[in-house]
Amino acid sequence: MAYTHRFGTRAVHAGTAHDPYTGAVISPISLSTTFAQNSPAVPIGKYEYSRSNNPNRDEFEQAVASLEGGKYGLAFSSGSATTATILQSLSPGSHIISGADVYGGTHRYFTKVAQSHSLEISFTPDLLNDIPSLVRSSTRLIWVESPSNPTLSVTDIRAVARLAKQYSLFLVVDNTFLSPYLQTPLALGADVVVHSVTKYINGHSDVIMGVAVLNDDDLYQKLAFLQNAIGAVPSAFDSWLAHRGLKTLHLRSRASSENAQKVAEALASAIKTGKVLQVNYPGLDAHPNRQVVKGQHREGFGGGMISFRVAGGRKGAELFCQSTKIFTLAESLGGVESLCEVPALMTHSGIHASEREKSGVHEDLVRLSVGIEDGDDLIADVLQALDRATGQVNGVKE
Ligand SMILES: Cc1ncc(COP(=O)(O)O)c(C=O)c1O
Repeated sequence: MAYTHRFGTRAVHAGTAHDPYTGAVISPISLSTTFAQNSPAVPIGKYEYSRSNNPNRDEFEQAVASLEGGKYGLAFSSGSATTATILQSLSPGSHIISGADVYGGTHRYFTKVAQSHSLEISFTPDLLNDIPSLVRSSTRLIWVESPSNPTLSVTDIRAVARLAKQYSLFLVVDNTFLSPYLQTPLALGADVVVHSVTKYINGHSDVIMGVAVLNDDDLYQKLAFLQNAIGAVPSAFDSWLAHRGLKTLHLRSRASSENAQKVAEALASAIKTGKVLQVNYPGLDAHPNRQVVKGQHREGFGGGMISFRVAGGRKGAELFCQSTKIFTLAESLGGVESLCEVPALMTHSGIHASEREKSGVHEDLVRLSVGIEDGDDLIADVLQALDRATGQVNGVKE
């Protein structure tokens, strides 16, 4: 679909062709693992074997590439498999500079898997200031998550991209927390954008999948080779489901971001009552990088993710998550339904406490994934859970 079309039109139509034989508007799910050939090594059509290529995966890859404004899309069996395949493309001894506050599983992969395969990683909470002193002759890649999981810190992607060019490094941006509707890192100068499709792109909490989008022909050839050689690919059914989810991304992203703005404002108001200690949300004027947000997120939207520190320490956070009635206590994010969790005890428990707390991931930090329910119901739910949690911690009946 031409990039001249607006986002919603591309979300609905990119990668979607009417079936030439039946006229079906929605593509059939192509479950065949193998495809007939006219003579040895001469397939009848474009496809040969489904690990290498599959019609549903192709359509999904084209659709996400169009939404991210990139030339190529490559889908993987999870966001984590996407990360692993990108790191596998580096030669042994390569050095990576990463933001300190990244998804716990990305941190785990960097420190527990990549390092044992001779890759070296430096983490920094302040990429912009620290890159010049961290760069070595072996540095190949900068890894950015913006906004970060779970403290919602925002990195100035344009500024990091300028540094990456200066030092001839690839810049990879994990765009999972916003989705291409709210931020397009390639347009800001990144070389590769990655997603856990499991989250906003699929949007319905029923698919585990990942994707990378890029423009560079050589890097694409390298990653496409590894996609097939490693074989961490999504099934035809998952590709089809994720493509269906993607068609409403613009509506869902907008709705969850509008809801999150209201919930974040309600939480910020609760700071004066002492029930909330701090709110991390890129849509609030108090966010330390609000000016960058205005320049790199669509319409300055804050996205659907919030984290906040609740009064009462770990107990307060646990009680809050057990007291909500609409927000479900569960890992993951980006679905139509609202979720809450305590990162220090759940998604980020694998990171050592001292390192975790340096990035602001304390035991009283609650993470919310705000869904597309009615915003006023969500505010009421958060406020009643806050009352119950802080009331019980203080032993006071509200
Ligand atoms: C920001 C971010 N990146 C990557 C991943 C990994 O994705 P997956 O769970 O699909 O492997 C996650 C998962 O929570 C995430 O939040």
